[in-house]
Amino acid sequence: MLTLFIMSLAFPILTPDEAAAMVSHGDIIGFSGFTPAGAAKVVPKAIAARARAEHAAGRPFKIGVMTGASTGPSLDGELAKADAVLFRTPYQANPDLRQKINSGEVQFFDMHLSMLPQAVRYGFLGKVKFAIIEACDVFPGGEIVLTTSVGATPTFCTVAEKVIIELNRAQSTALRGFHDIFEPRDPPHRREIPLYSARDRIGSTVVKVDPSKIAGIVETNVADEAGGFDEPSPAMLKIGNNVAEFLARERKRGTLPTGFLPIQSGVGDIANAVLGAMGEHPDIPPFEMYSEVLQDAVFKLMQKGKLTFASTTAITVSPKMSEDFYSRLEFYRSRIVMRPQEISNHPEIIRRLGIISINAAIEADLFGNINSTHVLGTSMMNGIGGSGDFTRNAFISIFVCPSLQKGGKISTIVPLVSHADHSEHSVQVIITDQGIADLRGKSPHERAMLIADNCAHPDFRDALHRYITLGKSGQTPQSLAKAFAFHQQFMRTGDMRNADLS
Ligand code: COA
Repeated sequence: MLTLFIMSLAFPILTPDEAAAMVSHGDIIGFSGFTPAGAAKVVPKAIAARARAEHAAGRPFKIGVMTGASTGPSLDGELAKADAVLFRTPYQANPDLRQKINSGEVQFFDMHLSMLPQAVRYGFLGKVKFAIIEACDVFPGGEIVLTTSVGATPTFCTVAEKVIIELNRAQSTALRGFHDIFEPRDPPHRREIPLYSARDRIGSTVVKVDPSKIAGIVETNVADEAGGFDEPSPAMLKIGNNVAEFLARERKRGTLPTGFLPIQSGVGDIANAVLGAMGEHPDIPPFEMYSEVLQDAVFKLMQKGKLTFASTTAITVSPKMSEDFYSRLEFYRSRIVMRPQEISNHPEIIRRLGIISINAAIEADLFGNINSTHVLGTSMMNGIGGSGDFTRNAFISIFVCPSLQKGGKISTIVPLVSHADHSEHSVQVIITDQGIADLRGKSPHERAMLIADNCAHPDFRDALHRYITLGKSGQTPQSLAKAFAFHQQFMRTGDMRNADLS
């Protein structure tokens, strides 16, 4: 209460509705949040209520919404349901927003996450009116301590005309020290980013803003809206074991240093299964992570001593793991650093450190192209996220997916991807529950055979072999007439099996 009293002398204390009332139709807002971790929660909800009231009065009310990545239901969900989103970037994972994007009601543009902050600073995405951000502490000099994510928040604070702070009492002020805030200068003045190991600290523990820009503080007490994780399915466990086995073999044959290299791992249940399997494998030594999100599996590995350090931009854990995190804050303090997404996902650092990237795919084709974002080429799932930042620049880039989806009616291995996010030039290894296709040094024909034989489910192998035969005459065995035979069969019958490959 004392800090609030001191701050109230420096900054106005606002209710969520008072903060929302400052926002006008057409404003572009940069919200904190990278996954539900550290996302603004009460002000976006109040903005959504305001939008509903404006619409009821016959007035237009929509805002441009930028964040670090996906957020929670109070931000993306509420604003989408209130028809309050003019445009959205760079990533989302909310069912209500997804529906509006796929029905054309919301304009969404998918971006590499590392590039969002500089695109904002360069002015490519318009003028940012407000940064609405979550913090656990604020000082009269304009120093702000962020909570469970950094994302693009420092840049939103730099460029916004005004900053509104949700001061969240559910997050401890002891988070100070976990963050390492560093913003590169813009060309032509940019220098190298002086980060030479996952553990290096190069910036400040706080975001610093001109205090006169702080429009007010909204006091809150709300936990992050991250859900739990499901138990891994048998297919996920097999994928995890295949990844661990592949990396152990690479180490044995000397293509990886014996001390190992830092790991980047995507988000979701497959990522948890992969890290779990790496933790169990006797030939994988204790390792570090240089990643963008830390999920539950990471904390379990740290407790076992298998993970020695993790650099991230967000801590996205189940409510149970969040309790554990706070109960052992001092244990984690020397083992975790949270950076802006511009740094956690920066191509320069990813190449320098030699990151092993492991991301999930929606579908992979016979040549190694990956679709991370679109179902049947048209419906946006979430976005490319950081997968492109890491894949293109990794020491070894790995994609994982179950060989089948939707009860066996969909093969994730298809002749040609229906949407391309990562090209065959960036993708080095594909791993499914069926096995491993190591594509390094392989021609398109060799790749096609490897992927069909090692990664596709047996139900689809013959059809894929027939496809390869159709296009045998060229360097790349492709048939323009039948490239989407699997997808067309699914659209006709709801099942990819029995696609016409005659
Ligand atoms: N066709 C149709 N649906 C498919 C599909 C396909 N080929 N592949 C996946 N899906 C559906 C699943 O059935 C599931 O649907 P449901 O929610 O109705 O059950 C949903 O997509 C998610 O797939 P799942 O197998 O549960 O994996 P996931 O939760 O790990 O998500 C991605 C996979 C690819 C969607 C997800 O990893 C993603 O958005 N990736 C892009 C961003 C990224 O890589 N971020 C990390 C970078 S650091």
